[in-house]
Amino acid sequence: MINITFQGKYMTYLFSRTTLALAAGLSVLAGAGGVYAQAVSPVTMVNQFEATAGKFEGYRRSGAKGVCATGEFVGSDAARGLSAASVFSGNKVPVVARFSVGGANPQAPDNGKSQRNMALQFDLPNNEQWIQGNINAPVFGASTPQQLLDGLVARQPDPATKAPDAAKVKAFTDANPETLLQGRYFASQPVPASFGTVNYWGVHAYAFVNAAGARQFGKWVYEPVAGVVGLTDDEAKAKGANFLLTDLRERAKAGSLAFNLNLELAEPGDKLDNATVPLPAGRKKVTLGVLKITAVSDDSTGACVAINYNPMVMPKGIEASNDPMLAARAAPYVVSRGRRVIEGAKQ
Ligand code: HEM
Repeated sequence: MINITFQGKYMTYLFSRTTLALAAGLSVLAGAGGVYAQAVSPVTMVNQFEATAGKFEGYRRSGAKGVCATGEFVGSDAARGLSAASVFSGNKVPVVARFSVGGANPQAPDNGKSQRNMALQFDLPNNEQWIQGNINAPVFGASTPQQLLDGLVARQPDPATKAPDAAKVKAFTDANPETLLQGRYFASQPVPASFGTVNYWGVHAYAFVNAAGARQFGKWVYEPVAGVVGLTDDEAKAKGANFLLTDLRERAKAGSLAFNLNLELAEPGDKLDNATVPLPAGRKKVTLGVLKITAVSDDSTGACVAINYNPMVMPKGIEASNDPMLAARAAPYVVSRGRRVIEGAKQ
């Protein structure tokens, strides 16, 4: 067990490699001037997720409907030129994955134009890990933790009507127009035909540091080797609310689930600290390696259930940018994990 103090509140967590990495992440936060810690308490944030999106005991407070999978990653020569991280050695690296539908509801429909997630944990030599939570949009719906919190507050259902107050939502979005970009992107895209036929972006910038110490910033995107495939509105309706998990299992059995990990290289002047701003179109892309998903859990169990996919965990050779949303993810993920484990962790 390990004890961590958050803003005067004392919490006890199960001792694990991830927890250790989280503790390291927290000191990074403090070192960065406590941008997040001063702005929004992680407990307040998770409470607001529950107040706005509903509380579903045992489930992740975001990305609740999901499935565990396993796979392997092989890094490329080009990646080794950009980063000394062991994940790019060229040897097969085991990966514990989780695919999920966005939102707090474990019954979220698979046929809506909503978020799909691909969370990955790369288990590396010497007890290192690389953890990511990727989404099927190039941008996130908030640029700061305070803006995310304010947007959730604005959308909290009115107790009388059980629906958000349209005037409050409009006042918030008028004042924060960049928060609409992600929703507009989803609305412009077809419903994904499969978890295996959609792009997944890391959204945040990271630095890749090579053996000579050269640093290259970039934003990554996983692109399905078999290509992007969406459904027409009629096809999506006919598929119904539950098809993604069975589809993923079938594709894994057929050996057809693979993604190229492509890094878009940032150039001087590019915005690196805002998750609502993608890199400009046409930036050079380098393929860092190939991810294959080789097995998908037949039920709601699997190694991913206990994992907190904290994107502040990375190996030597990869570094976080100063995007405030990136550092701000670590602590609420632990709060969410703590609650769902105590409640009896479900998929
Ligand atoms: C301050 C900002 C954010 C907060 C408070 C937040 C909150 C959460 C929480 C509470 C969870 C569930 C964690 C668990 O129980 O293990 C989660 C999962 C997730 N979040 Fe966020 N999030 C934030 C930003 C982002 C951003 C910017 C992205 C975009 C890449 C993102 C992508 C994901 C994904 C992919 C998952 C699912 C991971 C899984 O399968 O466990 N989040 N988030």
